[in-house]
Amino acid sequence: MTFDVDHVLAEATTEELAALVCGSGSWHTTGIPRLGVPPVRLADGPHGLRVGEDLDYSEPSTCFPTAVGLGSSWNPALLKRVGEALGREATALGVDVVLGPGLNIKRSPLCGRNFEYLSEDPFVSGSLAAALVYGMQSVGVGGCLKHFAANNQETDRMRVDAVVAERALREIYLAGFQRAVGASQPWMVMCPYNRLNGTLVSQNPWLLTDVLRGDWDYRGVVVSDWGAVYDRIAALIAGLDLEMPQADGREAVVAAAVESGELSREVLELAAERLLSLTHKAVTAVRPTGVIGHHDLARKAALESMVLLRNDGVLPLAPGARVALVGEFARTPRYQGSGSSKVNPVELDRLLDTLASRREVTFAPGFLLSGDLDDDLIDEAVTAAELADVVVACLGLPDAEETEGSDRTHMRIPDNQRALLASLSETGKPVVVVLSNGAAVEVAGWTEETSALIEAWLGGEAGALALAQVLTGEAEPSGRLTETLGVRLEDYPSTLMFPGETGQVQYGEGVFMGYRGFDAMEREVAYPFGFGLGYTTFRYDALKLVETGSVVTRDLRVAASVTLTNTGQRAGAEVVQVYVRNAAASVPRPVRELRGFTKVWLEPGESRTVTVALGIDAFAFWSTPHERFVVESGDYAIEAGSHSRDLPVAGGLRLDVPSLPTPLYDESTIAEWFADTDAMDALQARVLARTGERFELGEEMYAVVAGQPLRRFAQFPGGPLTVADVDAVLAEYGRPV
Ligand code: GLC
Repeated sequence: MTFDVDHVLAEATTEELAALVCGSGSWHTTGIPRLGVPPVRLADGPHGLRVGEDLDYSEPSTCFPTAVGLGSSWNPALLKRVGEALGREATALGVDVVLGPGLNIKRSPLCGRNFEYLSEDPFVSGSLAAALVYGMQSVGVGGCLKHFAANNQETDRMRVDAVVAERALREIYLAGFQRAVGASQPWMVMCPYNRLNGTLVSQNPWLLTDVLRGDWDYRGVVVSDWGAVYDRIAALIAGLDLEMPQADGREAVVAAAVESGELSREVLELAAERLLSLTHKAVTAVRPTGVIGHHDLARKAALESMVLLRNDGVLPLAPGARVALVGEFARTPRYQGSGSSKVNPVELDRLLDTLASRREVTFAPGFLLSGDLDDDLIDEAVTAAELADVVVACLGLPDAEETEGSDRTHMRIPDNQRALLASLSETGKPVVVVLSNGAAVEVAGWTEETSALIEAWLGGEAGALALAQVLTGEAEPSGRLTETLGVRLEDYPSTLMFPGETGQVQYGEGVFMGYRGFDAMEREVAYPFGFGLGYTTFRYDALKLVETGSVVTRDLRVAASVTLTNTGQRAGAEVVQVYVRNAAASVPRPVRELRGFTKVWLEPGESRTVTVALGIDAFAFWSTPHERFVVESGDYAIEAGSHSRDLPVAGGLRLDVPSLPTPLYDESTIAEWFADTDAMDALQARVLARTGERFELGEEMYAVVAGQPLRRFAQFPGGPLTVADVDAVLAEYGRPV
């Protein structure tokens, strides 16, 4: 059954269109049955389908690693496959659009939904979110980027006003969405609850129309987060097409607004057209057979999600090693987060089983999930350790410590786990710590007590199987951090301004968040952005840069090639990361920024030349005066290596760009005017024609007044310059204020 969008738009009544832009129930659009337009079914979530009426039960579906883990794979091809699987499970459950991926930037490690987000860096976030959406949509099911934008905390999320400078928005908090929109054209984008710079995002035309559709040419549907709409008419005018869930009587409000003229029928038809186009895509999609059950893909994803942070050689576990497996998480896996993303897994592996089938294992729970200290449990674990060759301690954050709807207040693992680890370390047996947590925890202070440390994040239903394979060397660990692990919470650039106060949170650190901030402050970290070990080693040689096009013609391309060699005894993966070390600029810029990456698998001894292509955007920053991204002249460096603080090969790049005068406006300074030769020529011509002399300033006077707004200087008596002169030239050369 299909329909013609234009025909429906022409035939539908205002009431039918009004109903169309208001949800039906919790998970459907309304459709227009009279004209053959069916409802569309939406469902969470980013790492598995949640189809059910509440959080207590949903239809069984595959639970993949959550985004923090999927992101740590740095593998777009893998995430495309995960997206395809999510799409096939959606089809099996009658779902047309999956409400994910989430790609809000991890501004603070305390955010309760960091487990649902991909990275602190927009390039990684946008690249991997695009892969997930591309995978879903390749099997005819819609993806939905969320939550657009500046939803970087859970505290007061329904009301908080995120105050963010435009440059930080454009370079950090919007950039991932921009990349993902451009690369995947998602069927939907979800707007969050919060305010942005004083305006509810659901009613923010600058974000939902000017930026998303005007600047980025987004052509899909903007849907509200559930309950995020306050004023439906203002939201429609701003560009929010679909309100979810159904709000009683809302369609009558919309219809009445059209009748009264408060809302134009054109605006309503625009939203309706987008929804009809999405519905048409859903109705006409050619979808492979829906299927539930992708456990092995979930395992593969978990393998690439975990990050080996430390290994003194104890891993892989020796074949005959007797293992003391300690920690309740080995028996009660911590494999996903709480809240709307929660999945009812088809099956669930436990390390207690998956390791015991590979090694001789003695289990001891070691701690209570409640966080209460239990000395008997510690004693039992110590006894098991003393009888074993090696300890595998499964630690991390209990469910209650990280969830949608609230943020943490510290980064520590529970005290009862710290006590357990201290006792285990005193046995003198090598201790391998495996962490299950959705957001970064402080590891400094105890990481030295371990022989090995694996950040397994929330590994999904097959996480424990993948972990057993990595621990025993059946498989290689290949994850890399997509967020900095700071030594202490106090070291994070955002800490003093998170989560804000009295309803407002100031992103005062600007672009200097995550590794960009740690590098600018030259601050030590526990483990850097991009870090991760494997069971083999790699060598980088001979970075080669091939430059084509130019900045001036805006078709600059730089192909950065390195020769990578597997210098170890085992096959393994390396994520080749390419950063641009920024030139000195007219604004403060991060030391370096990730601008490309690729994951490579090599056999022992194998060498391969790996190339990462950079475009002009790799050198650009957002110029607020110019209202666009600009590149300035300077000496840049292209650096490549295994993480943000280990970049062994680099090449220099000189970019020469015609100077870009700062667009003049009524408060532009004398220095800014003198830098704009065209405007100054026009000004001097006016002054000369009227007074027979030019507007001149001696060197000493210039030094004193260069920082003064010219228009105010013109008000002073006695000079040849008048305010009328300035205004006349501004009218021709100035930027709109
Ligand atoms: C929640 C979440 C959003 C989810 C939606 C539907 O409040 O913020 O991510 O998709 O509601 O459950």
